[in-house]
Amino acid sequence: MTSLRLYDAVGGRPTFELLAKNFYLGIAADEVLQPMYGTNDFGPAAERLQLFLEQYWGGPTDYQELRGHPRLRMRHAPYQINRDARERWLKHMRASLDSVVAAGLVAPIYEAELWDYLERAATSLMNSAG
Ligand code: HEM
Repeated sequence: MTSLRLYDAVGGRPTFELLAKNFYLGIAADEVLQPMYGTNDFGPAAERLQLFLEQYWGGPTDYQELRGHPRLRMRHAPYQINRDARERWLKHMRASLDSVVAAGLVAPIYEAELWDYLERAATSLMNSAG
């Protein structure tokens, strides 16, 4: 028996698309994080996050093809990611994850797995104490 990839178990592309889209609605309204993006058009950033998460969870590898190796630490180096930035990022991601759970797309067992990773990834990207 083959195990179901998490990507499929949570509904595949539509789930990750909604997760990234709803996350960026929160970012757009965040007075600390929004300026880091230097734009009000969050479509392209949402797509990059979506494709990265899809690839991470065993889905298509479009991210790699478009952007190359993720190198997330390096790609986040230009931004000041302190405790406040991490908490804000996670707050918007939490709200977005709740929205896909409420939509019936993600079962609780997978939600915990997704969240655990997101929290750890956000910690690993911290690059500033101030
Ligand atoms: C901890 C707080 C975080 C902050 C403040 C932050 C901020 C940013 C900013 C300003 C960008 C540039 C927007 C763009 O042009 O794509 C970005 C890109 C990105 N972030 Fe974050 N980020 C955080 C955490 C995370 C985490 C935890 C992940 C993954 C789980 C992640 C994944 C990505 C990806 C995939 C990109 C696009 C990279 C690329 O291909 O250029 N970020 N982030």
